Amino acid sequence: MRVALVTGSNRGIGFEVCRQLGRLDYEVLLGARDLGKGEEAAEALRGEGLNVTALQLDTTNEEDIARLGELERVDALVNNAAIAPDRAHPDTSAQYVPAELVRLGFEVNTLGPYRVCQQIVPIMRRQGYGRIVNISSGMAQLSEMNGQSPGYRLSKTALNALTRILADELEGMNILVNSVDPGWVKTDMGGQAAPLTPAQGADTIVWAATLPDVGPTGGFFKEKHQIAW
Ligand SMILES: NC(=O)c1ccc[n+]([C@@H]2O[C@H](COP(=O)([O-])OP(=O)(O)OC[C@H]3O[C@@H](n4cnc5c(N)ncnc54)[C@H](OP(=O)(O)O)[C@@H]3O)[C@@H](O)[C@H]2O)c1
Repeated sequence: MRVALVTGSNRGIGFEVCRQLGRLDYEVLLGARDLGKGEEAAEALRGEGLNVTALQLDTTNEEDIARLGELERVDALVNNAAIAPDRAHPDTSAQYVPAELVRLGFEVNTLGPYRVCQQIVPIMRRQGYGRIVNISSGMAQLSEMNGQSPGYRLSKTALNALTRILADELEGMNILVNSVDPGWVKTDMGGQAAPLTPAQGADTIVWAATLPDVGPTGGFFKEKHQIAW
């Protein structure tokens, strides 16, 4: 049975990714920084007949990260956990958002996935199989870069660079690494005006997490199509 680890998945898009991978018969490890919330979310999905277990995982916590190395198998890793750090400041322009909030964005949105990958990649190399999906955003695209939200934008652009770096280092090992923009999705982060449901947002993520061996690596995808960096 294939095993998937989804970070920050007690709510929002990550929760839907767990549901959809569960329906594809994956054993799902539902990562949550608050284990109580994780247990509740996992219980809801088990109630739908899915094989889901909550895992204590704050991607900025060294002990939580170190425990990941003890996992026996991880076929698919979805780096989903993220924050929108700029929202803590009344003016989200790069002229005013303090460097401290930008640092916080990097800590969770870039270094979180970086740390998780350092634990999970050795497991995938041992298996000779792995799919890593870094959840990025249209706000990370250099080709489309606009103003505002520097903390979020910089952290996700750097995450895209991590996708390229790992894809190159792992080439030929059957470990495919890609970035996905889920689109604008109705969640706590996306807000109620967003046009997409979490299920629609999860669709391309699940596609990238279950690519065949001949699938792409080192790409940036939206609606299952490659987009510009
Ligand atoms: N929604 C959109 O329109 C949209 C658009 C583009 C990209 N994205 C990306 O899609 C992904 C999911 O977003 P979402 O809209 O589902 O966000 P969300 O509803 O705000 O959920 C974020 C999740 O990340 C978790 N999290 C935050 N910091 C964490 C940490 N240090 N360790 C572990 N978990 C942590 C949260 O846990 P708690 O419940 O404990 O806070 C929550 O489960 C993110 O990477 C986001 O940047 C979203």
